Amino acid sequence: MSHTISISSDISKEEKYQSLIPQIQSLVSDEKDIIANFANICAALKYNIDGFFWVGFYFNKGKELVVGPYQGPVACNRIKIPDGVCGTAVKERKTIIVDDINNFPGHIACSPDSKSEIVIPIFKENEIFAVLDIDSDKLSNFDEIDKNYLEQLAFIISEIIK
Ligand code: SME
Repeated sequence: MSHTISISSDISKEEKYQSLIPQIQSLVSDEKDIIANFANICAALKYNIDGFFWVGFYFNKGKELVVGPYQGPVACNRIKIPDGVCGTAVKERKTIIVDDINNFPGHIACSPDSKSEIVIPIFKENEIFAVLDIDSDKLSNFDEIDKNYLEQLAFIISEIIK
């Protein structure tokens, strides 16, 4: 089935999320394949919310994370847990926002253009199945609005991977 995502450009970030999340929910509702859904979620986020430079998933393989579907420049294949922002989010089992990646000890730089980052854990039956990692090429790009709506999205994802 073909889908399009339609978001006005002249609305606030919060309004964009409010419009985008139900559209993503619809996009994934008739597809059971996790890779297909994760790939489309990355594209829907990167091309509809301003300042998203790299959007992707890392799958939790136990001792390390392995890159999954993403949109953006080539990234690290594997991240040892608890290294980097991604590994820290897994260890702490919570969303991590980094305003300036230069101030996060152990940050793993996949691109010199990344300046700030948010990592949201995706739970499956109380275990972390994957993380959603978003980098921005702007400092302090992520705030509580991103955290709130991306955690809603993580919950939707948890429902589809059950
Ligand atoms: N910066 C991440 C690594 C992944 S890339 O940003 C795509 C980290 O520190 O975990």
